[in-house]
Amino acid sequence: MMTVLSKIRLFKIGLGFIFSCIFAYAANANTTQLKFDDMDIKAEHIAIFVDEDGDLSEAVANISAKTEGRLEVALKDAEFKGEFGKKLHLYGLAPFKSIIVVGAGEDTLSVRQLRDLGGYVAQASNDNHSLSVITEGLATKAEQSAAQIAMGYALGSYAFKKYKAKKVNTSKEQTRTVSFHSKTPEPAKALFENDLGHVVTGVKFARDMGTEPGKTIYPETYAQGVRKLFNGVANVKIEVMGLSQMKRNNMGALMGVGQGSIHDPRLIVVTYMGGERGVAPIALVGKGITFDTGGISLKPNSGQWAMKSDLSGAAAVAGTLYAVAKRGDKVNLVGVMAMAENMPSGDAIRPGDVLKTMSGKTIEVMSTDAEGRLVLSDAITYAQKEYDPRLLINIATLTGSAARAMGEDYGVVITRDWDLAQDMMRIGKLAGEDVWPLPLNKNHYKAIRSEIADIKSTAGNPGASIGAAVIGTFVDEDRKWVHLDIAGVDWLTKARPTTPKGHAGWGVRFLNAVVRDVQQAE
Ligand code: BES
Ligand code: ZN
Ligand code: MN
Repeated sequence: MMTVLSKIRLFKIGLGFIFSCIFAYAANANTTQLKFDDMDIKAEHIAIFVDEDGDLSEAVANISAKTEGRLEVALKDAEFKGEFGKKLHLYGLAPFKSIIVVGAGEDTLSVRQLRDLGGYVAQASNDNHSLSVITEGLATKAEQSAAQIAMGYALGSYAFKKYKAKKVNTSKEQTRTVSFHSKTPEPAKALFENDLGHVVTGVKFARDMGTEPGKTIYPETYAQGVRKLFNGVANVKIEVMGLSQMKRNNMGALMGVGQGSIHDPRLIVVTYMGGERGVAPIALVGKGITFDTGGISLKPNSGQWAMKSDLSGAAAVAGTLYAVAKRGDKVNLVGVMAMAENMPSGDAIRPGDVLKTMSGKTIEVMSTDAEGRLVLSDAITYAQKEYDPRLLINIATLTGSAARAMGEDYGVVITRDWDLAQDMMRIGKLAGEDVWPLPLNKNHYKAIRSEIADIKSTAGNPGASIGAAVIGTFVDEDRKWVHLDIAGVDWLTKARPTTPKGHAGWGVRFLNAVVRDVQQAE
């Protein structure tokens, strides 16, 4: 059965005048539809996978037969060995106009690898014409492969073209179809429609928010974007707190960071109660600095523009809640996003100022550029007081120190519990977003003692652990707590199969997998 994915509409949700087009799947005049079919291949452009065992899979052998065996000859001539991720373009093998060949390696493929294969196809394909991707014969769970490859394709083909003047594609085709061909298209379609497609939308939301300039995304417009994203999603409540409510809650740190900007801060709380009433939720708390100039402790000029993505943590929280809520998981989940713009001005906080947090504890601000820990201190206190979560995870582009330690490969994970750290590493590996631990001990807490306040906000090296100690000061002692510092992974200077260059939307896949893991462990 050939069925057009109705859920494809989810790629096209607009976000009103400010956000127009960010959600269009191909983000230009053309739209891409993803389909799952078991039809005889009629497409002019196809993609195939060849593994390293030397024999062509049955599906690829059938394709080769259509070319009267010339595909097999061409692969031999090119000495194509099937090394994982190797790409080869073949043209003019009638009846096909072009064939993209991607190596599938020698191992049984993991979910992560299947997604990577889809990403390789996305990067190799010309987005002017329709394409059939032959997904058969790749993994033991065949009914999953097409869906996972499609997810990788959707993630790998992301592009942000909103500000390009030339919107119209050169091709006459207005709607382009990418079909994922397998013997069992129905379960693949169901998996994509009910689960993976929602994760893709969550990642795209996060990428859009991290790519969108600070001129258009500030706390209030970000809140509008979140409202639009969740419009009509069942069991979700959104609360956007402004200055007056922050004052009532004594959120002196969040208000302090935001006070130098003409755009007021916001605390956004999204709750999804899909689980049993009264069961404590998982809480995800995200840093949402819509632009980080450093404040009075102004950042140097070079690379400052990239600080438009300093809301990555908050964006990952929203994207994850969306995926979990759309999937309808039987779980209670809360997202708290601390939104502020860190600007220098006559009204801005100064180095040396002391801020009183919601918890009652005071922080001496050593550098106004260490603003993430300040906004998180209030958001974390709020999350614990209001929801008493069974697991508290905060996620933030917190320190250059984390980026220097891990590069673009691993997010930093810091916990007070080694088992939990190991769980996070295992989950990250499966989800395709890796994390690796750094320490947090008594010495880090000792280092942030202040002469005049309860703690000070910075204390030199080791920066990532010091940042975690500031945040840890606000986490209840027996609370299950995970700190994620994603300053290195949220922005890629070199494309990955499922993540183009630029803002990665890191954390949606990871946090989504954590939420699933917690449910599976029950
Ligand atoms: N948003 C930055 C951290 C960052 C740096 C993210 C590079 C992505 C790439 C954060 O607010 C910051 O400025 N951190 C300071 C902390 C310092 C003042 C203790 C840093 O890492 O330099
Ligand atoms: Zn920052
Ligand atoms: Mn900063």
